[in-house]
Amino acid sequence: MRTVVTVFSLLLPTLLLLVDFACAQPVNTTSSDEYEYIVVGSGPGGGTLASRLARAGHKTLLIEAGDDQSANLNVTVPGYMAAVTEDKKLRWDIFVNHYKDQQRAQRDPKYVWETSPFEYHVGPGAPDGAEPRGILYPRAQTIGGCGTHNALIWILPHESDWNNIAGITGDSSWSAANMKQYEQKVFSWLHTQPTDPTILINDLSLAQQYVAGAAAAGIGPDPINAVTGLVNLLLNDPNSQINPQRDSTEGFFQVPLTMNAGTRTGVYQLIKETVKQGYPLTVQTNTFVTKIVIDQSNSTAPPKATGVEFQKGKYLYRASPLSVQKNPSTAGSAKATREVIVSGGAYNTPQLLKLSGIGPKQELEQFKIPVIKDLQGVGKNLQDRYEIPVNVQHTKDFNILKGCTFDSKPHDQCLKQWQNNPYILGQRGAYATNGLAAAIVKRSSYASDSNTDLIIFGGPVNFDGYYPGWAEHAIADHKHFSWYTLKAHTRNHAGTVELRSADPFDPPSVNFNYFDTGTTENGADQLDLQAIVQAINTSRSALAEYSHYGLLGGPPFTEEAPGPAVQTEAELQDYVKDRAWGHHASCTTPIGSDNDPNAVLDGQFRVRGVDGLRVVDASVFPQIPGVFIQAPIYIISEKAADVILSAAK
Ligand SMILES: Cc1cc2nc3c(=O)[nH]c(=O)nc-3n(C[C@H](O)[C@H](O)[C@H](O)COP(=O)(O)OP(=O)(O)OC[C@H]3O[C@@H](n4cnc5c(N)ncnc54)[C@H](O)[C@@H]3O)c2cc1C
Ligand SMILES: *[C@@H]1O[C@H](CO)[C@@H](O)[C@H](O)[C@H]1NC(C)=O
Ligand SMILES: *[C@@H]1O[C@H](CO)[C@@H](O)[C@H](O)[C@H]1NC(C)=O
Ligand SMILES: *[C@@H]1O[C@H](CO)[C@@H](O)[C@H](O)[C@H]1NC(C)=O
Ligand SMILES: *[C@@H]1O[C@H](CO)[C@@H](O)[C@H](O)[C@H]1NC(C)=O
Repeated sequence: MRTVVTVFSLLLPTLLLLVDFACAQPVNTTSSDEYEYIVVGSGPGGGTLASRLARAGHKTLLIEAGDDQSANLNVTVPGYMAAVTEDKKLRWDIFVNHYKDQQRAQRDPKYVWETSPFEYHVGPGAPDGAEPRGILYPRAQTIGGCGTHNALIWILPHESDWNNIAGITGDSSWSAANMKQYEQKVFSWLHTQPTDPTILINDLSLAQQYVAGAAAAGIGPDPINAVTGLVNLLLNDPNSQINPQRDSTEGFFQVPLTMNAGTRTGVYQLIKETVKQGYPLTVQTNTFVTKIVIDQSNSTAPPKATGVEFQKGKYLYRASPLSVQKNPSTAGSAKATREVIVSGGAYNTPQLLKLSGIGPKQELEQFKIPVIKDLQGVGKNLQDRYEIPVNVQHTKDFNILKGCTFDSKPHDQCLKQWQNNPYILGQRGAYATNGLAAAIVKRSSYASDSNTDLIIFGGPVNFDGYYPGWAEHAIADHKHFSWYTLKAHTRNHAGTVELRSADPFDPPSVNFNYFDTGTTENGADQLDLQAIVQAINTSRSALAEYSHYGLLGGPPFTEEAPGPAVQTEAELQDYVKDRAWGHHASCTTPIGSDNDPNAVLDGQFRVRGVDGLRVVDASVFPQIPGVFIQAPIYIISEKAADVILSAAK
């Protein structure tokens, strides 16, 4: 670890400040370690919270299944945002069902078969004996969680997302007006910035696609001044702090990224800084929590979380491709004198609660897990967005990608440019962006309120969802361009996360129950579907506008996906139902009102019926917030810190 850090430090002097790290200190895992707070999972939810608790002077243990990857170029270089999701050192391959009916699920060409451990076949024609697995859902085990391998996109939630929680809980501290302070707290340590427009305007074909997108959004610049027009449009900030109508404003926007001077930012940096500055934060990596220890000895009080049991070892969770090495592990435990906070993410948090005896009684009994608290809502209410692309192939390469091989090998010219240049006037080049620099934002005709519900990103990639090898496919050549949509405010809340076994290293069974197999009340599934079809239509209008900006000289292209054969409303709907995907899994241990039998948490993140136990991560939302999810998670984590610190007084 030390050697790796040193080598990369020479290449990246700016990171030098961050590399001295507590996980390199020996940690005594044998027994009797005692802390005030124990936080399980170091993603945007847990990492932010643990840092805050320690900064307030509380002895805090942050336990993380993965290790420190902050010197890994796949992490630091924004241009490697696809490659990093396939990096074995971080990746967890979780397989999910969009549809329980496997025949229907297999209509998706992204459906995966496992031919031998962690070797996959994608799509029809799997060899005999291959195991059907489902749809790949990338997750990360590392300091910073999925915030360390995600696509960096930073978009604040809508005000209605907060006001809804205030309404459900009757707790006005959740109001959008009050949540602003937590947003500001995140901004005090997390640097964000959009892609530098000068990187884009070096590529006139790309600029031509973008101005065409703006035209489809109704604000296309005059073709004669297209480039200046584009630069002006890229000043449009979807996170505007001054536009009171922000949440309902349609148009064409820059895409803010968790990035500083062209290098990825994330909670991993806050965690490391917190340790480095001497706050009482112990970060225990390569440690997998198997159970929350719950004391039931006081018959007149609710059960109380008093600590955790874990196994210390590398790549223990069987979603890690490196788990095949069967690394040794040793058992251990730690005590929390105040509280245990679970922040394992939308899949692992419900799994860990259930393994610890908190969840639907009938499911726990099926696996002979002693029931401590029958909470029916644990692992229900799983939500996500729906995503779909329109992809075209140009006859010529995009200039911006010249020399980019995306593999951090010596021939990677774009990496050289990124490493050898300061971040001024876009000199770090194509790798100082995630490639998705701008987006069309729209309110579909099927939205249930005044907020926008479609965000359509444009970028020079061939992105068609997640499957093993998706990253190589997305950047295999330099000729593809994608307009790809995320549908916000989806109505489906019928997903589930259920135990497969009582073995903590077995990933759970995840069923999203898409469209007509999920929430259908009041035509919910059709409304979502039609909105997405409308987004495909908008993407196609953007492509149709391209020729109006022929002065920029971009080459012609042909549509590959959905492709010319997919035209009628029925064809488009089938295409979406078969191929849509998501990557913002959430809402699996929701906050809810006192009279909601499926509420898992109260408005203060407390697990109902168990003392000393909270959840702080993507699982807490009653409804999936905003258009992107990391910002709301960081914000709720700042709120949770405030709530917990007030309670400690
Ligand atoms: C490919 C991809 C791209 C994405 N891009 C974006 C984007 O551009 N913008 C955006 O807003 N969102 C994006 N997201 C989503 C976002 O990154 C996640 O929703 C967010 O990181 C979730 O935060 P979390 O704290 O809930 O959980 P996570 O980030 O999943 O963190 C949970 C952590 O807990 C650890 N853990 C789990 N169980 C245990 C256990 N039992 N013991 C010890 N440790 C445990 C895990 O190792 C992990 O590090 C993306 C997600 C993916 C997969
Ligand atoms: C762990 O801590 C205990 C109690 O403080 C001590 O007796 C033991 O030697 C320590 N073990 C290691 C491996 O450091
Ligand atoms: C980055 O990830 C890819 C897999 O996508 C892997 O082949 C490569 O070795 C990783 N690079 C580094 C620097 O770890
Ligand atoms: C048991 O719980 C009751 C009620 O919360 C409390 O008053 C009492 O002190 C507890 N007893 C012990 C031994 O902790
Ligand atoms: C999308 O476009 C197709 C083809 O032009 C049209 O038939 C359909 O009604 C449109 N759908 C929506 C929801 O806009």
